[in-house]
Amino acid sequence: MPTPVIETLGLSKVYQGSVGGVPVLSHVDLTIEYGEVVALRGPSGSGKSTLLNILGCLDRPSRGRYVLGGSDVSGLTREEQAWVRLHYIGFVFQSFHLLAHATALENVTLPLHYAGVPRGRADETARDLLARVGLSHRGSHFPAQLSGGERQRVAIARALTARPPLLLADEPTGALDTKTGAEIMRLLLDLHKERGTSIILVTHDPVVADYADRQIFLRDGKVVDTEEAQVGARA
Ligand SMILES: Nc1ncnc2c1ncn2[C@@H]1O[C@H](COP(=O)(O)OP(=O)(O)O)[C@@H](O)[C@H]1O
Ligand SMILES: [Mg+2]
Repeated sequence: MPTPVIETLGLSKVYQGSVGGVPVLSHVDLTIEYGEVVALRGPSGSGKSTLLNILGCLDRPSRGRYVLGGSDVSGLTREEQAWVRLHYIGFVFQSFHLLAHATALENVTLPLHYAGVPRGRADETARDLLARVGLSHRGSHFPAQLSGGERQRVAIARALTARPPLLLADEPTGALDTKTGAEIMRLLLDLHKERGTSIILVTHDPVVADYADRQIFLRDGKVVDTEEAQVGARA
C-alpha cells in the first residue's frame, strides 16, 4: 500500500471556552490518498473549517494523530508548522485572503520570498502561475481592482507556488456567483490533473461537491456516512 497523503487517527479538537471545553471534533479517522479530490460537507458549525485548519497545519488537534505524507505532524511547534505549510500545503479561502496593498504578482511572489527563492526566479514562477490561471494581464493590479473570480484565481496561483502535493480549499466558490464558481472549480480540477495535486474542498454546495472523487460528511464534529448526513441536512 502506498503512503496516504493524509491519515488521521482519533483526531479530536476541544476549544477552551468560558464554560469549560467545547468539543468541536470527535475521533475523526480519515485516510486520503495522493491525487484524490475529496469534498468535505456538513451543516454549518459541524467542524469543517476546524478540521481543514488542522489538516492545513494552521491549528493543532487536542488529541489524536495527524500524519501528513507519512510524518506525524500532530505536535509540531508553530515554526515547524509554518515550514510544513510553506513546502507542502496550498490553502485557498472563501474570502481570498489576499494582501490588499500588494499587487496580484506580489501576492503570488510572497510565499516564494518566504521560502528563500531568489527574486528573479520567484518573479518568473509567479508570472508563469498568473498566466496559468488566465491573469497575465492583471499582474500589476491590486485586489480591489479585480473581480471576485480574478481574486480567487490569484489566491489559487499563490497556493500553488511551492507545487504542494496538497491543496486545501475552504468554500472556495462560496463568495462567487454560480458561473464564476464553476469556472474556479474547472480551474482547480485542471490543475489537479496537470500536477496530481490532492485536493480537499469544503463546500455546502452539492453541485460543487459532485466534482470530487469522494465526499466526506461531518456532523457535530464526527464523520458520518452519506445517508445519515443527508437525512440530517434535510431535517
Ligand atoms: N476558535 C474557536 N473557539 C471556540 N469555538 C470555536 C472556534 N472556532 C470554531 N468554533 C466552534 O466550533 C464549531 C465548528 O466550527 P467550524 O469548524 O467553523 O464549522 P463549519 O466550518 O463546519 O461551519 C462551531 O460551533 C464554532 O462556533
Ligand atoms: Mg467553515
